[in-house]
Amino acid sequence: MRIDAHEIDRQYVCMSQIKSIIGEGKKAYILTFGCQQNEADSERFGGMAEEMGYGITHEIEEADLIVINTCAIREHAEKKALSITGQCKHLKTKNPSLVIAMCGCMVTQEHRAEAIKHSYPYVDIVFDTSMVYRFPEILLARLSGAKRQFMLDTGCEGHIAEGLPVHRESSFKAWVSIMYGCNNFCTYCIVPYVRGRERSRKKEDILKEVKELADAGYKEITLLGQNVNSYGKDLDEEYDFADLLTDICKIEGDFIVRFMTSHPKDATHKLIDTMAREPKIAKHFHLPLQAGNDRVLKKMNRHYDKARYLSLVDYMREKMPDIGLTTDIIVGFPTETEEEFEDTLDVLSRVGFDNIYSFIYSARKGTPAYSMEGHIPYEVQSARFTRMLELQSEISVNRNRDYEGKPTRVLVEGRSKTDESKLTGRNEKNRLVHFEGPDSLIGQFANVMITKAETYALFGELMEG
Ligand code: 5AD
Ligand code: SF4
Repeated sequence: MRIDAHEIDRQYVCMSQIKSIIGEGKKAYILTFGCQQNEADSERFGGMAEEMGYGITHEIEEADLIVINTCAIREHAEKKALSITGQCKHLKTKNPSLVIAMCGCMVTQEHRAEAIKHSYPYVDIVFDTSMVYRFPEILLARLSGAKRQFMLDTGCEGHIAEGLPVHRESSFKAWVSIMYGCNNFCTYCIVPYVRGRERSRKKEDILKEVKELADAGYKEITLLGQNVNSYGKDLDEEYDFADLLTDICKIEGDFIVRFMTSHPKDATHKLIDTMAREPKIAKHFHLPLQAGNDRVLKKMNRHYDKARYLSLVDYMREKMPDIGLTTDIIVGFPTETEEEFEDTLDVLSRVGFDNIYSFIYSARKGTPAYSMEGHIPYEVQSARFTRMLELQSEISVNRNRDYEGKPTRVLVEGRSKTDESKLTGRNEKNRLVHFEGPDSLIGQFANVMITKAETYALFGELMEG
């Protein structure tokens, strides 16, 4: 399951061969759709591209290598990736030596890979999520004149590849994957089919990576996995996610630790106690609810009910009264009735999430829900969705008002996209904060006095010191 070091060495040899083939001044453009796991994979593609001699560009027009890292979670994500791929055709006409590579969850599905093969003949390389570490070898074959490469290992359980280079997009925020894959098979979700079974990285490898990041001055480290609470279940020793967090917090440095995503069925009191105890762990919990009705949750194969979810939230608030809570909701799952949907609204009102990420159910080919009876018409889904957002906006603005007149510590990320005069960042509870300040604060922690709250953001003034 763990890729042998010799195999990784072989990929480094391919990277240096590519460097000698392509010559000076070539550029790679990496486009990422979907979740943070894909972002983390893309940083590996960036690292490998640099090792091959490509500079990283953010202008697609000047690229000699384009990597499109796709997502399959909803139809919308797939459509976007296909549309961009379509637009690449004219780039290839302008620059025939351009290499276009596609990877990620969408192309890991056989029917999508087939569609690329037939309808997008200018795509040079397609490889699935289990082949990330073999990117250099696949690219080298194509650059050496081999035919279009389709590397798909459907049915692969997945691997762990250590030692690949990484190009981090930020100098103060970093992703660290702690595990890959998912064993949960929620009935709506494509992830277990495209990312293989759960597998945990060794704690030594994770702790080493976090220490290097802390030593390099990184301020925020986000631990990633489809279900981080399952960390360690496949390892030989008795060591779980809470133990890992405890060890990470022993690493010296002025940084905060975040993690995502958690599954309510595996979120333990031990984990919550660890969060409450460790100052380095951000007091923010993203805990996907998906639905508030017990029958729907059962049909989704979620293995918890409304009462268990609410009791977890109670325990969190008992230990960390001001914890920031966010969640994911799916609206209009097959057979969901109006009353059942209202159970979701009831949970939103009772919990008072700071923010929710809500999605209209999207049927994914190959999942059990795809072939269920009782798909809900789009107009009904859409009306429920709007109703839910209206309720949540009210809740979010009220939650945000609690901050008014209080100080909060913010990791400053950059200039606000909508108002250049302001800096923008997030506090440990993941609330967006805008305030005026100098560029020198970017990448640093700053204390901000909150003066105004809106639904999606807080506004404030920089405090002294
Ligand atoms: N349709 C809509 N939303 C989905 N999600 C996962 N699969 C689907 C689907 N088929 C949502 C879940 C998950 C988030 C990452 O995406 O809410 O937590
Ligand atoms: Fe998908 Fe469920 Fe696994 Fe999350 S836990 S990735 S929603 S199957």
